Order: sequence, then C-alpha cells, then structure tokens
Amino acid sequence: MNEKIIVGNWKNYLDYEGSIALANSLLDINTSDKVRLMVSPNHLYLREVNKILNQTKIEVISQNLTSFDSNSDTGGISAVNLNKININRTIIAHSETRVREKNPQSILSKLITMGFSFVLCFEKIDQIPFDILRNNFEIILAYEPVWAIGTGETASLDHINEIHSNVKLKLSKSSLNLPILYGGSVNPLNCKEILDSNYVDGVLVGGASTKFEQFSEIVNSI
Ligand code: PGA
Repeated sequence: MNEKIIVGNWKNYLDYEGSIALANSLLDINTSDKVRLMVSPNHLYLREVNKILNQTKIEVISQNLTSFDSNSDTGGISAVNLNKININRTIIAHSETRVREKNPQSILSKLITMGFSFVLCFEKIDQIPFDILRNNFEIILAYEPVWAIGTGETASLDHINEIHSNVKLKLSKSSLNLPILYGGSVNPLNCKEILDSNYVDGVLVGGASTKFEQFSEIVNSI
C-alpha cells in the first residue's frame, strides 16, 4: 500500500469554537496524493464540522458508535443515525471507550454487512477478530499501545514494526490485506520515521491533531 492514512482524533479536547476554527483552518491544508486524511471531532460537533469539510478530500469520521440501528440505546450513537448525517466511518474500540463499553465485536459484523467503515483500535493482537474481518480497504486497523496514548512516550520504531509485521502475517494467513495505523504520541518530530516504515500504513494522531500547525507538519511529512 503506497497511500498513507492520517487520522486526527480530536477526542474531547476542543469546544465548539475550537472545533469550528480548526475545521476552517483545515480548508487550507495541502495534502499530497499519497495521503488520505480523516478527522474525528467530538460527536457534538460532528455534523457542523462535516458541513465545513464536505467539499474537501478530508473525510469526517465518528469517534465511536455503540449500536447498529435505531433502538433504545440511551446516550448511544448508532451507525444508522451517523449515516443519516453523512458520516460513514467510525473509530471503534479506542482504549478510552474499551474501558467503559462492552466488547464491540458483535457490532462489527453488522457494520461490515452494512458497508459502514471503521478504524478498529487494538493494543493486543488477540483483540483483533480476524475471523470476521473482510478484505476491504474500508476496514482499517490501528495499533495503539495504551502507555503511549497521550503520554508523550512514543513506541520505538522497532516495536511498532514488530507488532505490525506480526499482524500483517496473521492477516495474510487469512488472505487479508488491511492497512494498519500506529497511534500513541505521534507528533511532528517522530511522524516521518514512523510513516516511512513499510509496515506502517498511516497514523492515528490525538493531541497533535488538535493544533493546526502540528497536524499540517505531520500531514506534510509525506
Ligand atoms: P495521542 O492519542 O496522539 O494524543 O497519544 C492517540 C489516540 O488516542 O488516538
């Protein structure tokens, strides 16, 4: 895969004004043809950020979902309702959501059937449900060691390559070829080395993606 995927996960860092300002700044970002860019605002601002960016090559995605269709899931987010506001992809099983929500595995098959794309985060290889994955570029995996998330401690390139190559090997045994991103304290100083690795198909960036200058440096490092 030559294309690199860069996902900006804004988490809960930005308020309304901050989210709208960042989305407007992103209208001017230059991306090479080798980059596929996604941003993930807080759910509260998803629709408005999507309106700002919908004429661009930047895809706006959800930070999570909790169910598939319309149902009694109070406080939840469903794929069907995201779809209605033109959001067709979500991050799922991020480390923060993994601690408060049950295993999302049951939802994944439904999302695959519906054609709703996702970025599935994992820390341990046995968290990846290889048996239900399909060969589809719209399924993206993201290796996110919890100790590296938001701590400023990035995993070493050797460590990232080792995990990614193990996952790629397991995927190939099931004839699967899915992109694998790395996430955990990616910043303008370490992104190039990580993105240059043949084992890394992109990065999932948290904190640094909420600052326009830092995010554009990461995007322009390719
Ligand atoms: P971080 O977050 O870049 O702030 O470490 C990464 C993530 O949680 O997706």
